[in-house]
Amino acid sequence: MTYTTESIRKKFLEFFKNKNHTIYPSSSLVIENDPSILFTNAGMNQFKNFFLGYEIPENKKISSIQNCIRAGGKKNDLKNVGKTSRHHTFFEMLGNFSFGDYFKKKSIIYAWELLTSKKWFNIDENKLLVTIYEEDIESYNIWRKIIGLSENKIIKTPNKKNKSENFWKMGKYGPCGPCTEIFYDYKKNIKTNYLKKNKILQKKYIELWNIVFIQYNKLINGKYLKLKIPSVDTGMGLERISSVLQKVKSNYDIDIFKNIIKNIKKLNNVKQNNKKSIQVIADHIRSSSFLIASNIFPSNEYRGYVLRKIIRRAIRHGYSIGIKECFFYKLVPVLIKYMGSSGKLLKNNEKKIIKTLKIEELKFSKTLKNGLKLLKNEIKQIKNNKLDGNFVFYLYDTIGFPIDLTKDFCKEKNIKIDIETFKDEINKRKKISKEQKFNKNNKKIFISIKKKTKFKGYNFYQYKSYIKSIYKNYKLTTKINNFEKGKIILDKTPFYPESGGQIGDSGFIQSKNGIFKVSSTKKYGNFIIHTGKLISGKIKIKDKVVSKINFKKRKLIEKNHTATHLLNSALKKVLGKNVIQKGSLVNDKKIRFDFSYHKNLKVNELDEVENLVNKFIHKNKIVKIFFTNFKKAKKKKINFLSHKIYKKNVRVVSIKPFSCELCTGTHVKKTGKIFIFKIISEKSISSGIRRIEAITYKKAISFIKKQENNLEKIKKIVKNKNLNLILKIKKIVQNNKKIKKENKKILKKYILLKSKKILKKKYEINNKKIIFSTLYDESNFTILKIIDEIQKKNNSVIIILINISKIINLKIKISKNLISFFQANKILLLIFKKINGKGGGNKYISEGIIKYYKSKKKIIKKIKKIIFSIIK
Ligand code: ALA
Repeated sequence: MTYTTESIRKKFLEFFKNKNHTIYPSSSLVIENDPSILFTNAGMNQFKNFFLGYEIPENKKISSIQNCIRAGGKKNDLKNVGKTSRHHTFFEMLGNFSFGDYFKKKSIIYAWELLTSKKWFNIDENKLLVTIYEEDIESYNIWRKIIGLSENKIIKTPNKKNKSENFWKMGKYGPCGPCTEIFYDYKKNIKTNYLKKNKILQKKYIELWNIVFIQYNKLINGKYLKLKIPSVDTGMGLERISSVLQKVKSNYDIDIFKNIIKNIKKLNNVKQNNKKSIQVIADHIRSSSFLIASNIFPSNEYRGYVLRKIIRRAIRHGYSIGIKECFFYKLVPVLIKYMGSSGKLLKNNEKKIIKTLKIEELKFSKTLKNGLKLLKNEIKQIKNNKLDGNFVFYLYDTIGFPIDLTKDFCKEKNIKIDIETFKDEINKRKKISKEQKFNKNNKKIFISIKKKTKFKGYNFYQYKSYIKSIYKNYKLTTKINNFEKGKIILDKTPFYPESGGQIGDSGFIQSKNGIFKVSSTKKYGNFIIHTGKLISGKIKIKDKVVSKINFKKRKLIEKNHTATHLLNSALKKVLGKNVIQKGSLVNDKKIRFDFSYHKNLKVNELDEVENLVNKFIHKNKIVKIFFTNFKKAKKKKINFLSHKIYKKNVRVVSIKPFSCELCTGTHVKKTGKIFIFKIISEKSISSGIRRIEAITYKKAISFIKKQENNLEKIKKIVKNKNLNLILKIKKIVQNNKKIKKENKKILKKYILLKSKKILKKKYEINNKKIIFSTLYDESNFTILKIIDEIQKKNNSVIIILINISKIINLKIKISKNLISFFQANKILLLIFKKINGKGGGNKYISEGIIKYYKSKKKIIKKIKKIIFSIIK
């Protein structure tokens, strides 16, 4: 019997269907609301709540074929791909599950029957052996007494929950339990003396099927909670069982991979038949395509970063086997073709996958070419087989060549990297960029000041202090005179400096003798700098001052800032955890919020986001502010920006239970102060990044009011009183369409009639057919259509049409085969020599307007005469 991968999928499901299991489809590669895993990594993930008893399935017996990713997260095989014949970043897991129905006995019997029965997979029993969790006497007895395995085919592994190969856990926490695994002997029949050492087991045997007896819930604190109802979770890698049934040595030799690999080899310029690189590409096209189909897009963060890593790794291997052009996306149609029923998801997302891969590859290939060349050159010259950390840093920092690719490349060539120096350089870089930020726009002028400005603006809107320094034109000075611009540093200030998206405060700094108007406030290192202009008197260093922020403006900013936090949480709630803040602007007028998301938001999604934000506004929740340790905040999964550098002590803004973010900004005390939140636009600003603009409070109300007024205006325009307006507009649009359609028909008929009529009056001079006709009040479109119609019936003709409306318009058209005799633009010029007019065109068609005439009749006659004489 031949087993294609597709037939194995079918048989597996058929087997469990016969055993009254309900077949579930694969879940997405991203399981929402489960922060314990990055990607779906096993068939059981989607059933976590069933295992923990939080939900009860309709049928307690389920079977599925699950798409899995093992890259990036806790279960990460990325680095093994290309090295072994068994590992993948993407694979399909065949599984059967029992939630309080059958347990150890039946699950073992089922697995054995499917693998060995002639009716099913028909594997020689002698080629199988099993492992069990040492303590699991029950499983031992089932294997021994019911299945009838000899003692030496049941290998016990030590009963350490945290270490044992035979204790399976979903993640750092969650469902887990002891397991028994079925192995297949790849070479000869099993010899007893091999079996006890697991290393040999690994080499000679492959693990085929894992049967897990989920009995515990591992808690975050590390404790194991015994579950009330024990369950069964099994998993068999489709690629492995296929390799066994197709009698090939490597997973990469099964039908799916064979075909993908054949097509990789067909790509332009593939010179080296490097098995490893080809396997990497074949594996990675699967994972990246499935990830993109699951709406993950390449980026520098989180899941997107893993995808980027996979794509870039594949591309690098492409280069190393000689491919010189964009190639990766070209494999998508091939993949879809050979993935059988599992390829449907890809088929539905084909365009998106291809586009995403292409863009990513183009972006990366430039960097890669450059970096690889440098790396190869450097490697030729290295000493002690160690790559200089400074060079690695240069590649990374200046060229943009990913560090993991340098590592990969060196590992392949057995070259060490001076990683310490590299890390030192990275740290230096961080420091420098902090300083650079500090110096930006300030030409290093502030470095000399040591102490810092104390920010008092969380609790005060005005504050007494004194002037520490004054700058004019970037130079330290002692005073500012009236109408001069400058910068002021105080010892204490209520002015919030621009940060975290929130704009800086504006307002006034007032001394006994002068008033300084602050237009913007920024932070440089530890100083807060007020930029502005003196509007009265003079101000000098050491003056005592009262600084007052624009209170009204600040209040509006605070409403918008708190609303931004609510928006961030609402987006995550509605669109999924994948949404990551990419930037924001919060001022007194509006909120601008950029975030990663791959597609247009639907109207109902936007509504949901808006409603959620408003819900939390109307609940009038307390906005709590406290300080904590950054490490603790990270552990508690408080929202923070991954690209930002945080201090040890961080400020948390929490609106329970909905939002919790690290933030230095100023906020309302209770959410009710925001009053109302309204989204006014949503759009894409770059690949995978979207922008929402929103308003709050009075601005939102006037916006809504304006919409209402517009609606009234529309009602008036469409003369709608009490009827359903939407219905009415729909009707108008429908009617409009109908009328347009009818008009088109009528016009067509009219053009036919008109051209027929025109054609009746043909002239002939020197064997050349001429149409000369006068039209009245026709549109340009109609005239051109008439010309087309005449041309259709006469392929050798000179057409002159004069249209009389407020002006006299003249069109000349010459058939192609007459072009050697007459040219439309030249005829027009000859006419304009005798008649005052203006126009132009090319040899086939020209057009003009006749100026200054007394009698239309006369002018038409004159034109006719000129033209006929030209043709003669
Ligand atoms: N969930 C088990 C595994 O992934 C079956 O091995």
